[in-house]
Amino acid sequence: MSIRITPLTGTTGGLVEGVNLNEPVSRDTFDVLHRAFLDYGVLVFRGQHLQPAAHVEFAKLWGNPAQNNPLDPAVPGFPGLIQVTKIPKETASTEAWHSDSIYTAVPPKISILSSVVVPHGGDTMWCNQYVSYERLSPTMQRMLEGLRVRFAGLRLARMRNIDKIPEAVHPIVRTHPETHRKALYVGHPETAKQIEGMTVAESRPLLDFLYGHSTAPDNVYRHMWQVGDVVMWDNRCTMHYAVHDYGEEERVLNRITLEGEVPV
Ligand code: OGA
Ligand code: MN
Repeated sequence: MSIRITPLTGTTGGLVEGVNLNEPVSRDTFDVLHRAFLDYGVLVFRGQHLQPAAHVEFAKLWGNPAQNNPLDPAVPGFPGLIQVTKIPKETASTEAWHSDSIYTAVPPKISILSSVVVPHGGDTMWCNQYVSYERLSPTMQRMLEGLRVRFAGLRLARMRNIDKIPEAVHPIVRTHPETHRKALYVGHPETAKQIEGMTVAESRPLLDFLYGHSTAPDNVYRHMWQVGDVVMWDNRCTMHYAVHDYGEEERVLNRITLEGEVPV
């Protein structure tokens, strides 16, 4: 089997064909996937029906599995593998553009989802934050240099009924540790609270502009899940959004997240 990688849109995502992730991935294959991952930010593998043990093995090729929140249900026998199940729309923290756990000091670098039960709908969207940065004018790029944002996990805290809201401060433009490209690092208005050293009134319009700018339709890949799909993404240069349009239908995805670096 030879690997084929095809762009899924003009900006975001690559479709990988010719790889069976239930079998050990050779070093050569990994190198091709790694290159494609850095280029596309999101990789889509259709029809994998990935077994939990293979999911864990594949994830370990990319880094160290992150410590899971004990509140998240795990796949029986696989403590590192979280089951993303349907949550009420009113409290779903994932139905907003976000980069995972941006409100923590060391956010994860990669997440790998494998679909088990798919409703009608329940798509996931990704946007490319290199492109979001590169589409800014040179003047705006210069203005953002050195700015840092205070992020708060308000949406998560609400979903989980947590009193102590996690917070972290990160650069508004981060440099990817592997590609050395600059990416815009923002998030939903409830999460991206304030630019350090500015008032809320000064920060808000700029943060709102950058959020809307990042998620323009021509910067988005929308994945319509089929059972057996695997999608992995780079949290350092993309945001994603889980569309909740499936009412009470079941939706189950298995997920592993890999430890990241302090954003710089
Ligand atoms: C996540 C997430 C997307 C989805 O697992 O971090 O945002 O479509 N999930 O469930
Ligand atoms: Mn997420």
